[in-house]
Amino acid sequence: MTDHTALSRRALLAALGTAALAAPALARSLPPVPTSSVATDAGYWDAVRRLYSVTPGMVNLENGYWGIMAEPVKAEYKRLTDFVNFENTVYARSRIGKDLDEVRTPLAAFLGVTREEIALTRGATEALQTLIAGYNRLKPGDGVLYADLDYDSMQYAMNWLKGRRGVEVAKFDIPEPATKANVLASYEAALTANPKTKLLLLTHVSHRTGLMLPVRELAAMARARGVDVILDAAHSWGQVDFKARDLGVDFIGFNLHKWIGAPLGVGLIYIARERLADIDTHYGDEDFKADDIRSRIHTGTPNFAAQLAVPAALALHQEIGPQAKEARYRHLRNYWVARARELKGVEIQTPDDPEMVAGITSFALSGKRSAADCNAVVAALRDQHKVMTVRRGGVARGNTIRISPAPYLTEVDLDRFIAALVVVSGSRAG
Ligand SMILES: Cc1ncc(COP(=O)(O)O)c(C=O)c1O
Repeated sequence: MTDHTALSRRALLAALGTAALAAPALARSLPPVPTSSVATDAGYWDAVRRLYSVTPGMVNLENGYWGIMAEPVKAEYKRLTDFVNFENTVYARSRIGKDLDEVRTPLAAFLGVTREEIALTRGATEALQTLIAGYNRLKPGDGVLYADLDYDSMQYAMNWLKGRRGVEVAKFDIPEPATKANVLASYEAALTANPKTKLLLLTHVSHRTGLMLPVRELAAMARARGVDVILDAAHSWGQVDFKARDLGVDFIGFNLHKWIGAPLGVGLIYIARERLADIDTHYGDEDFKADDIRSRIHTGTPNFAAQLAVPAALALHQEIGPQAKEARYRHLRNYWVARARELKGVEIQTPDDPEMVAGITSFALSGKRSAADCNAVVAALRDQHKVMTVRRGGVARGNTIRISPAPYLTEVDLDRFIAALVVVSGSRAG
């Protein structure tokens, strides 16, 4: 090594700091979370907005795909990318196991579970596929059940159980318009119509319409019938503030790159401690003991920097305020929905009941629920009005257009969307 290299190395190490993986100081520019009217405090949300760097040419209402990192998290992710690539296997063959393991500590605390009940995955897909495929209490002839609003790849995994475990697979449609009463009744009816059901898939917040299920009640209903629930919480944690144990579900898949704002490629599997034996080890993993949840997911070599940046993302999420974020998302949702409901020819597919919705909501033009119709609206909003949305299919009553918020969106952005919708819906000539 030349002196020059040694110097650069020392400089970089100094920049990285010896406590490279300590929870970083973040976003000191944020004022304290307002104690009243938090959802509409313009000064506070302006400070939050300044933490994000977004393309200026488009009002982006398609934030359900994933949630971009705030700048302080992105900086930490870049720093960690430098760190792991600079330290290379010197680090990866020594301390990384311990450091990755430590990532579980703040996550578990914030989720209200123990560290031994969670393991990192590369996303909700991996977490949920692992739970569905690994659930080992099914016998040939048992039934499994899911609904139209569940996520496609989870539906595929449930269908796959027919060949894998010899079970009968049943699917039903969630009513639209949905109310808490008719959703509960539809699950009750589906469980009654399929009495052999032993496993039920639930999606906490639908990626299609934003419908939020009354999971606690549904889990209790299932438990009373001896049915286990696997919960898809890909869209809920972070959009909604809750503790895992409060839901009464033993198997949950999360991701951290949507509403928690971690780098792409991180998720989480939760298995209640007393239920670990009901999920098989992952492809017979032997790296960890069978009583260690980390034997339930073996992904090989992950994106180390992404996983190591999770505490930074969580710290910022907590600093902005999980309840403040939820209130803000709900405010933004109610803001545009109230205006859209006044437009002739625009229908909202998601109920207003705060128990049945959070930040995501979908709409369509009256009588125009084909994929082509909805694609045309999405294209017009994007190409003519610079408003980004997305069509979602798979809803029994037809296609729909999803609006999903972000911490950086403002009422002004939504006014632009509504002005565009006026034109696109033909509510007023544009
Ligand atoms: C309801 C739901 N479940 C699961 C997933 C899968 O998440 P990921 O692609 O992050 O693995 C998604 C992704 O959009 C989703 O919306």
